[in-house]
Amino acid sequence: MPEVSALRDAFTARFGITPRLIVRAPGRVNLIGEHTDYNEGFVLPIAIDRATFVAARARPDHTVRVYSANFAAEDSFDLARIERSAEQPWSNYVRGVVKGLLARDLPILGADLLIESDVPLGGGLSSSASLEVSVGYALQLLNNVDLLGEELALLAQGAENSFVGMQCGIMDQFMAALGRAGHALLLDCRDLSYTPIPIPPDVRVVVCDSGVRHTLVGSAYNERRAACHEAVTLLKARLPRIAALRDVTTEQLAVNGDLLPPAVLPRARHVVSEIGRTLRAAEALERGDLRLFGALMYESHASLRDDYEVSVPEIDTLVELARGLPGCYGSRITGGGFGGSTVSLVSTGAVEAFADALGAQYQDRTGNQAKILICTPSEGVSRAATF
Ligand code: GLA
Repeated sequence: MPEVSALRDAFTARFGITPRLIVRAPGRVNLIGEHTDYNEGFVLPIAIDRATFVAARARPDHTVRVYSANFAAEDSFDLARIERSAEQPWSNYVRGVVKGLLARDLPILGADLLIESDVPLGGGLSSSASLEVSVGYALQLLNNVDLLGEELALLAQGAENSFVGMQCGIMDQFMAALGRAGHALLLDCRDLSYTPIPIPPDVRVVVCDSGVRHTLVGSAYNERRAACHEAVTLLKARLPRIAALRDVTTEQLAVNGDLLPPAVLPRARHVVSEIGRTLRAAEALERGDLRLFGALMYESHASLRDDYEVSVPEIDTLVELARGLPGCYGSRITGGGFGGSTVSLVSTGAVEAFADALGAQYQDRTGNQAKILICTPSEGVSRAATF
């Protein structure tokens, strides 16, 4: 975790002046409810104790200078002309958020920003959303702008959709903004209402980063989203009142599946079944029925692997290995997919042995080094320091 004093010193060394404040916004891990958010369904994520930190100070002019410690690179742009940067793709998340704030006619001045994150980049833990939300929040505080957490999340999602070109749903930005310590949130992505559900003390959430990163993740993700849209358009021929796959029941899909091309039907089947599983899992968690919760995680993984086709062999190996280890209730791919991480629910007493064995067995089987995080459910975006 980056130290506040080290961030302040790094900022001062780079910009020749002390920062006014430091904010942090967490990454997230989704326990269940994958590829449901953009279908107006339910998700059940936690914010994690890994975050993007932004040290910031307002400038009297219209320039934003931004340094990324992760990329060891600096970018600067003028508020009057914010365009996509081909040379510094990481900066597009920052540029998109600033552009989004200005598009809402908010009184934003220039700023110096220094960014450092310990959310693994591209690991399925929403490093991008934590970057967007932390930058948005820092600028909000510097310019005395009041946005609700929901508004900040929507603005950050909009920046990613329109400026970065990833047609993501709302889950990641929502958690970066509104995560709750000690809790998962059952979020209804249709109206953004949510119910915090405590994570029982006898289990831990374990993330295992496979180290596998696939290129073209954005385009494969956008294709999945387009398939869902196509399914809704075609199903409307007989189900005119549906607005999203959220509105389709398992029975309706079984009866009307003949309307869908063979490549689209399994995509819809995943989404419809996953929304049902997420609601059942949330109830199970509330009742403390971890066995049922875990069984639903395994079902979710199989559906993402076979019907939605967003898994990769290394991730399937991790899930299979986790299933064979003592104390593991359930395990599945988490996040957008095509590499990235798994999430497992493991009894607290067994968690250290689980992490050691999973890492060792994965290395034996694949030759890859996994990175394992035992996560603590954390609070959404917050101010970490004021100077
Ligand atoms: C990515 C997106 C989210 C969500 C997940 C899949 O993380 O950013 O909006 O769609 O994939 O559940």
